[in-house]
Amino acid sequence: MRSSKPFLAGLTLAALLFSVVGDAFAADVKANKKRGQVYFRMVCTACHVDMSGTTIPPAGRTMAEWRAYLDADKHDVSGKTNPSVRYYLSQAYRESIKDQNKAAKKFLTLSDEQLYADIYQFAVTGAKDSDTPATCN
Ligand code: HEC
Repeated sequence: MRSSKPFLAGLTLAALLFSVVGDAFAADVKANKKRGQVYFRMVCTACHVDMSGTTIPPAGRTMAEWRAYLDADKHDVSGKTNPSVRYYLSQAYRESIKDQNKAAKKFLTLSDEQLYADIYQFAVTGAKDSDTPATCN
């Protein structure tokens, strides 16, 4: 009988690699923090400033808080806007604002998973307890 050890070692390695890649959402998606930053500031922050005069800086939350927030995929509990934060990254949303928003236009063809991974990376690596806290501007 063949040993299952190499297989298990392979699994362990895969798990390790995945945890190193960290917050990339799916294995085939490599997060691009810079792109996440551009989209976050030009789409998320812009709307927040317009609608409530407040920003949502990554450094306003801890890494754990950002992960929990984004994993839960809730957005605005007041019901004024879409209840899913992923909606605001979606291609459908980008399409709907592309004529008024340069970032939405520029990233129009990116998959939702890719942009989600990018935003996730920017938010978490810019959290207040991260090495590189990031503001909104
Ligand atoms: C259409 C405008 C709009 C867009 C686009 C938008 N938001 Fe929001 N968001 C709001 C409003 C309005 C609230 C309710 C709280 C407030 O008024 O700031 C909210 C709430 C939130 C909250 C909770 C704030 C809190 O203190 O409870 C977070 C976090 C958040 N948004 C993140 C994002 C992220 C990340 C994006 C981009 C992927 C995004 N939002 C895109 C309008 C928007």
